[in-house]
Order: sequence, then C-alpha cells, then structure tokens
Amino acid sequence: MAAMAANSNLTAARRARNNEFYTQWADIEREMNAYVEYDPDVFRGKVILCPCDDPEWSNFAKYFALHFTDFGLKKLISTSYAPNSNPAVKSLYQPTLFEFEDPKFDETKTRANGKRFVLEAEDISGDGRVNIDDLRWDYLEGDGDFRSPEVTMLRDEADIIVTNPPFSLFKEFVAWLETGNKRYSIIGGGSAITYKEIFPMVRDNLLWKGATANNTDMVFGVPKGTPIKAADKAKAERLGYPSDDQFDYTRMGNSCWFTNIDHGRRHEPLELMTMDDNIKFSKHKEIRGAGYQTYDNFDAIEVPFVDAIPSDYDGIMGVPISYLDKHNPEQFEILFGSHDMADAATFGIEPLGPQRVSDYYGAGGTGSLSRGHRKPFLYAPRPHVPFQRLFVKRKDAVK
Ligand SMILES: C[S@@+](CC[C@H](N)C(=O)[O-])C[C@H]1O[C@@H](n2cnc3c(N)ncnc32)[C@H](O)[C@@H]1O
Repeated sequence: MAAMAANSNLTAARRARNNEFYTQWADIEREMNAYVEYDPDVFRGKVILCPCDDPEWSNFAKYFALHFTDFGLKKLISTSYAPNSNPAVKSLYQPTLFEFEDPKFDETKTRANGKRFVLEAEDISGDGRVNIDDLRWDYLEGDGDFRSPEVTMLRDEADIIVTNPPFSLFKEFVAWLETGNKRYSIIGGGSAITYKEIFPMVRDNLLWKGATANNTDMVFGVPKGTPIKAADKAKAERLGYPSDDQFDYTRMGNSCWFTNIDHGRRHEPLELMTMDDNIKFSKHKEIRGAGYQTYDNFDAIEVPFVDAIPSDYDGIMGVPISYLDKHNPEQFEILFGSHDMADAATFGIEPLGPQRVSDYYGAGGTGSLSRGHRKPFLYAPRPHVPFQRLFVKRKDAVK
C-alpha cells in the first residue's frame, strides 16, 4: 500500500515536472511584437490575464507590465498556482523577499493558496510611470487552479489571455479559453495540432499557429536539478542560456504558439512555382524530372515538401503537417489530416486491403498498418504511408 502511494506520488511529481517550463523573455517579445506589428492597437484598452504564472519569477506579467503604457493596457492580471498543489515545486518552494517582507505575508497561505497580481493605470510607487512596481497582490481564496471559479471569473473579466499553460493540461486549458470565448496566445507542444479537440479549430481557422518560433528551438528555464538531456542543455547554452543561480535551461524543438490573435505571417502567401516549373526546376530530386505521385487509394497528389506545393493544381494535395507554419487561409483551404481516419472516410480515402498491407510488410514496413485503415498509400519508392499528411486545396481552385 505504502509502495503504491509512493509510486503514485512519484508519477504525479514526474507529470508535474513536465509542466515546469519557464518561458524566456525573447520568445514572448518576438510573438507579441508580431501581433502589435499587424495591429498596433491589439492590446489597447484591453484587460490582459496571465494565468499559471507568477510575476515574481516569470516573464509574461513582467513583459506586459513593462509595456503597460505603450500598449495602452487597461489592466493586467496575473495569477499563480499554490506550491502545495504542485508536486514539482512543493519541496523547493521559498517565498520571495517581495512577499515575505510584505505585511500581508501569511505563513500558511504562501504555500496553500495561489496569488493574484494586478496592475492598473495607477502610479502607486510615485516614480512617475506605471510599471511592475505598481503591481498590487493578494492571496486567492483557493490554489489558483485555472479551472477554479475565482480564476474563471478573472478569465471572464479579461479580453486577452497570454501564457504558457501546464503542458499536461493543454487541451483542458484551450477548452477553458474557448468556453470563455476569449482571444488568446499560448505556448504548447506542436503535436497538439493533431489532437481531436484542437485540429477542427485549426482547420476552420478559429485557432492557428503563432507568428514566431515555428520549426525553431524554444529555450525554457526549468527548476534547478530537473533531469534534462545533456544535449538539450548544451543546445540551450549555445543559444545563449547557460544555467544561472535560479534555473537550468533546456531547449524544446517542437513547442510553438497557438493563438486566435491575427498576425501578418498568416496573410503572406507562400511563394510557389507551377507544377511544370516544379518538375523542371525543383531543388528536390523526388520532384525534379519525376513529377508528383497520386495516392494509390485516394484521388490526390502527394507533395512531400512544402516548397514543392504546385501553385496551379486544382485538386486535393497531401502536404507535410509543417505546412501549418506557413498556412495562409486566403491561399489554401485545409480539408482534413491523415491522423483522423473518420475524416479520411468522409473524404473518400479507400481502406487498405490485404494486398496493400502485405505489400507494406513485404517491403520491410515496421509500422502498425492493418486492413481497414484509411491512410493515404503510395507504392514508390516502396509501399508505404507517408508520415502525417494534411490535405489542402487551393482557395481559388476551379471546383
Ligand atoms: C509551463 S509552466 C509555465 C509557467 C509560466 N507561465 C512561464 O511561462 O514561465 C506552467 C505553470 O502552470 C502552473 N500550473 C500547473 N497546474 C496548474 C493548474 N491546474 N492551474 C494553474 N496553474 C497550474 C505551474 O505552476 C507551472 O509553473
């Protein structure tokens, strides 16, 4: 019994540790700049909420506090999560001097409660400007769980929500934002795109990838002593983040921003060549002189590289999922993804029969492919199902 409890504590601690990734200022700045560049008034007169955050050590609230006046914010609210509710930090937790020296400091609440920090257009410190020194704080009634009624009330008060939420609760966090019908910009793992709760929103242009950090490494701070791969730590160091007194740093290749705030990148059309020109000039040997394959069980062409999408093809095209980093909804329509076999059925991908499955395994295929799977199938260069395809069509295609 005791061993089982210890095991489940360890699992909880491990899961919670995977939530402790602290966002770097430069990443926040790059992404917010893209929104401001597209619409200089995007934050003007708005209430911004940064939940799952703590301005004593995190950069989100600090960033918006610094830009309170030039962005024209109405109010900034940030909430933090109680250390006692967070197995990843519970044993490491120390109140900061900022809190400890405040008359409001409470020995019990500092561990058991979340906190709320609020900045309004009021120069409380009297230094002639509104900035982080004018932040007021108090303890929340509960632990600051974003799902709690009190944080949900703050969500409802907010116009825009910006944060890096706990990775393990990403779907729930998006659902919470959507229920509140909010504008938001949040960080998540790139693979979240294919979640059944997320993909339909991306397909329908209700949610899209951010303007920055797509396909590049994002560096995150982690609590000191968190087990991280030496290679990731070394990469973070090369990117300018050696360990410091507060944090170790790691890089994550697949994290990105998810947002429903508009930005210019998604209105830039992809510069593409015609099909004939691709066949003549493509830098990819698979296309140059060879042309495009048609799937064996679906009437669409396989386009293995985003830069090889032909500009003049009217039919359906299967493109790599990384296309979403470049998606411009005025240029292409997203139909479905190969991760969803129910959608594949709707669009008419034929199920794999015994022949294709046996050809696949006969050619050394090691994936898990079975009869009945509705996956796009190709015979060249060997019988296989290409990795994660997104099916798109030109917006101005002749129907
Ligand atoms: C990925 S970290 C990001 C922290 C900070 N926003 C940043 O980007 O630097 C997610 C944070 O969510 C907090 N958290 C975990 N579970 C939570 C919950 N249920 N409600 C609110 N916050 C939570 C943790 O304290 C953790 O620090």
